[in-house]
Amino acid sequence: MAKKIIITGGAGFIGSHVVRLFVNKYPDYEIINLDKLTYAGNLANLTDIEDKPNYRFIKGDIVDQDFIHQLFKDENPDAVIHLAAESHVDRSIESPMDFIMTNIVGTVNLLNAAKAVWGDELADKRFYHVSTDEVYGSLGETGLFTEETPYDPRSPYSASKASSDHLVRAYYHTYNMPVVLSNCSNNYGSHQFPEKLIPLFINNIKNNKPLPVYGKGDNVRDWLWVNDHARAIDVIFHQGKTGETYNIGGHNEWKNIDLIKLLCNIMDKKLNREPGTSEKLITYVKDRAGHDKRYAIDATKLKNELGWEPSLQFEEGLEKTVDWYLENEEWLINVTSGEYQNYYEKQYHQR
Ligand code: NAD
Ligand code: DAU
Repeated sequence: MAKKIIITGGAGFIGSHVVRLFVNKYPDYEIINLDKLTYAGNLANLTDIEDKPNYRFIKGDIVDQDFIHQLFKDENPDAVIHLAAESHVDRSIESPMDFIMTNIVGTVNLLNAAKAVWGDELADKRFYHVSTDEVYGSLGETGLFTEETPYDPRSPYSASKASSDHLVRAYYHTYNMPVVLSNCSNNYGSHQFPEKLIPLFINNIKNNKPLPVYGKGDNVRDWLWVNDHARAIDVIFHQGKTGETYNIGGHNEWKNIDLIKLLCNIMDKKLNREPGTSEKLITYVKDRAGHDKRYAIDATKLKNELGWEPSLQFEEGLEKTVDWYLENEEWLINVTSGEYQNYYEKQYHQR
């Protein structure tokens, strides 16, 4: 059946992969990419599909209540896949209010607009909220986050995402809003803004700049290839049970410093540098405030109920990612010019 879907945040890192997958895989669907184009949103992420007949871009702010209500009235979508967010933990420590507005108020605006246009006609409607494993807080040496793990967010970013998750679930229980949610671990891959660990370090190694490792570099993250996240969103969107939450993860835990050393080795190889050259750029700097020690996802429910599994080994995915950044130098230069320089100075100058 033909579906009209509003995908929010479709010009960002994960959103652009989701938009690309849906536009290419479902030619009968009408995909509307709704994005404010903040510093993290970039239409250059979507040049390969921008002329497809089943794709449209609308520039807009999910915080703008009047605009969102009018848009939903005009478009009357069958579904929403909501990815738009302020997404970087360090920025949330500096400017929490942007996170409260977009991640909480923006999400409620979308829920209210969907509720207003859908009314009681909820058959075949779907509101998919994309969230993060950071809502569960920080793990010790052992254990995994399951869908039953109590929420314990520690940063303004994760607290704003936790709040939005609670509101999405509240609309399900209170108004029968046909919601589905997923909480995913750290993504990596092409088109990620170079404020996040992997693309930041690729860019710095390329430019022979110091690699600012927070604290001792012993924090652990569970990394998933972004295309595998997009595949999981496709599966959950189509087969997930209304009202349910699915954890998505890579079964792929890495201590930051081990990941960074692997990345340095790959970069030395790709840039024809002497082995050990890039590692010399490692610089230990002041830790992130409230730095969560370890994240790790138990994605058994998604595997057992919907048959999803990650497709790629990390070493292979990381090499593909490095290749993409080295082949797309213009993309990297464009996003790291201008405002990025001010952000970088402020974030790393005094560490
Ligand atoms: P991103 O920062 O790369 O992209 C966010 C997009 O949202 C950008 O295109 C931006 O322009 C848009 N946006 C921001 N504020 C907006 C607003 N007010 N109105 C409309 N559009 C707005 O983020 P990402 O890393 O692609 O993350 C996407 C989603 O996935 C987020 O909800 C994030 O919490 C979640 N998530 C991310 C990861 C990860 O590792 N990056 C992991 C799990 C979950
Ligand atoms: O777990 C999912 C989350 O993963 C998403 O919800 C977030 O949107 C996404 O940004 C990511 O959060 P992290 O804080 O884990 O990602 P980041 O790339 O910022 O940092 C990864 C690890 O690397 C973390 O332990 C902090 C460390 N780090 C990061 C930066 C930017 C450094 O040591 N130095 C750095 O300069």
